[in-house]
Amino acid sequence: MKIVEVNTPSANYQITIGRDLFDMVNIDLFGDYPDVVIVSNTTVFPLYGSQWADYFTQCGKRVYTYQLPDGEEYKTFATAEQVLTFLLKHKLSRKTLLVALGGGVVGDLAGFVATIYLRGIPFIQIPTTLLAQVDSSVGGKVAVNHELGKNMIGAFYQPKAVWTDLDTLRTLDLRERRAGLAEVIKYGIIWDGEFLNFLATKRKDLLLEKEIVTDLFAYVVARCCEIKSEVVSQDEDERGIRAVLNFGHTIGHAIERATNYRVYRHGEAVAIGMVAVCRLAYQLKCFSKSEFEYVKRLVNDFGLPTDCKGISVDEIFNGIFHDKKTVGDKVTFVLPKKLGEVEIVSGIDEGEIKQAIEYVAGT
Ligand code: NAD
Ligand code: GLY
Repeated sequence: MKIVEVNTPSANYQITIGRDLFDMVNIDLFGDYPDVVIVSNTTVFPLYGSQWADYFTQCGKRVYTYQLPDGEEYKTFATAEQVLTFLLKHKLSRKTLLVALGGGVVGDLAGFVATIYLRGIPFIQIPTTLLAQVDSSVGGKVAVNHELGKNMIGAFYQPKAVWTDLDTLRTLDLRERRAGLAEVIKYGIIWDGEFLNFLATKRKDLLLEKEIVTDLFAYVVARCCEIKSEVVSQDEDERGIRAVLNFGHTIGHAIERATNYRVYRHGEAVAIGMVAVCRLAYQLKCFSKSEFEYVKRLVNDFGLPTDCKGISVDEIFNGIFHDKKTVGDKVTFVLPKKLGEVEIVSGIDEGEIKQAIEYVAGT
């Protein structure tokens, strides 16, 4: 078992990473909460819902469950409103603990509901995708999408705890695991070049089709959580350095939006976005050709897409102006300087940006 601490100005909490978590976690640590609502989805709840419902019942809680439809397209204000209606209909009070059981979509939406229900109730993240375990469950970004942009309606609201059961990765299909590995690669590029090299050497084990090498995933998930914790502890509400966690996301989100969230998994779009910004940095002569090629090859070797040929360059380009880091017409990018180090840059020439998008998209 591994524990990673997160200490932000608004909250201190632990990420518990391991297997058979029931003996390791203690819900009573967070206060007196007689009611627990498990928010999950129709894929994850049948797999893991009853075991958690039984656990909370054995802890003496009244347990309620809500299953969202599965899919990024349901990460909307309308779905959040339905969960809020469920909570209100059951007259659930502020002494209710909300539990987000699922991937990043469930975690972001349930966390958003927790922020606004009765002006805020506590919540716990139980992430069940690799992406959620290494990224979305940690750091308190909760949100829903708006038709004009991804994650545009949300808040910073930290969970009381993150409980990461590595065994859930066994039921996750390889495509989703790869999508999570895109965010794992991101941490190497932005923060820890040695970790990036380590990932390259462990690629085969990380991609084994029918097996999860638990010790390896425990290390990888914990290392990513340590990096994320270090960043968000310095800058909880993204006034500065936290933006580095969005490496590859500005173009990635624009690709997701241009394809109606239906073609690429979030991590896949981020993978293409990372190739595009590495290309941009290479064009701007702040990243070497060999490092750019290394990243592109690594992304490809992990079975992730490195381009989205056929998707309109203009649509992706227009989409980047809907990014949360955009102020007026100034788009901010996180650009690599070398492997393991990035910088936050705005005011880049639009022609250069278009050229980098053209490199991954278009005809
Ligand atoms: P997801 O939540 O859609 O999960 C992917 C798929 O895997 C879904 O079909 C889900 O039902 C299924 N699934 C989940 N756990 C499973 C399991 N153990 N076994 C089998 N199937 C399982 O997608 P995701 O990649 O986890 O998350 C993407 C979302 O996370 C996006 O909305 C993105 O914006 C958000 N995100 C948020 C942050 C943040 O800081 N809050 C960071 C990164 C991404
Ligand atoms: N996933 C980006 C962040 O948490 O800031």
